[in-house]
Amino acid sequence: MRSGTDSGAWLTNLTNVNKSSDLNLSIRPVAGALGAEIQGVDLGDASGRLIDDIREAFNRYHVLVFREQELSPMAQKRFAEHFGCLETHPYITGLDDHPEVVAVIKEPHETINFGGGWHSDMSFLPTPPLGSVLYALEVPEYGGDTVFSNQHAAYMALSDTMKTIVNGLTGIHSAASQYGAGGDSDKHKNEYGSMTLEVSEQAHQLVEHPVVRTHPESALRALYVNRPFTERIKGMRKSESQALLAFLYQHCEEERFTCRVKWEAGTVTMWDNRIVQHYALNDYQGQRRYMHRVTIEGDEPV
Ligand code: SIN
Repeated sequence: MRSGTDSGAWLTNLTNVNKSSDLNLSIRPVAGALGAEIQGVDLGDASGRLIDDIREAFNRYHVLVFREQELSPMAQKRFAEHFGCLETHPYITGLDDHPEVVAVIKEPHETINFGGGWHSDMSFLPTPPLGSVLYALEVPEYGGDTVFSNQHAAYMALSDTMKTIVNGLTGIHSAASQYGAGGDSDKHKNEYGSMTLEVSEQAHQLVEHPVVRTHPESALRALYVNRPFTERIKGMRKSESQALLAFLYQHCEEERFTCRVKWEAGTVTMWDNRIVQHYALNDYQGQRRYMHRVTIEGDEPV
């Protein structure tokens, strides 16, 4: 279902940007709306001009995939630190020696997965992350892909009338539905056995962010609401807020805005949390998936 008066021009623009690569990198776009695979790069050894090019590619494609990497937790942190300071997740315990590195694990006997639903990482924080770097150590024989959705493309595809409505709105976010008492982590604590997810009173704190945020580097406008963390729209009746959010969620998640990353052991994917939502698919029951994630601090959304 296409919305409003969308002509699809946003996709032509994105495709043109993707073609006009002047970067000193070997780049293969993953899909029309976002995502690129960068070939022939060793992230454990990246510095200087290479990091500048990766940053530029990151701003163009929003999701970057690197294959055949070998990263110790220290090397993964060193690479991510080229883009900013690292976050320690407020509700998830990291590795003993590297608290900024979260082991995202699903064991064969576990039935639910971490990140299994469309979301934007930690939008419940006053300054949500710039992005994350996820490194696959062990992947299932099939399944376990991660899907990403371009929230700039989703914004651009709205009608002008809807753009005007959402431009002035503020979303109220919290971590309650995930990390509050009775939230997802609480309800499923036995099923998330291999990850330590905290349940905390602090998760009920409310934070306000614009429904449309402007990317601090590219100045692109992007929708910034997501199912687990956006509670409501400020100043609206509950029924109005629910109806608008339901429309926006369904719109944001449309296939035409997405790309899909198929993991191999050694794959690293970094995504721009300021302009992308993601979803870890849970379609590999009975198999193990083991990743290391680090998250880079971001700015206050404007
Ligand atoms: C997440 O950060 O939401 C997890 C993504 C994944 O495991 O693919």
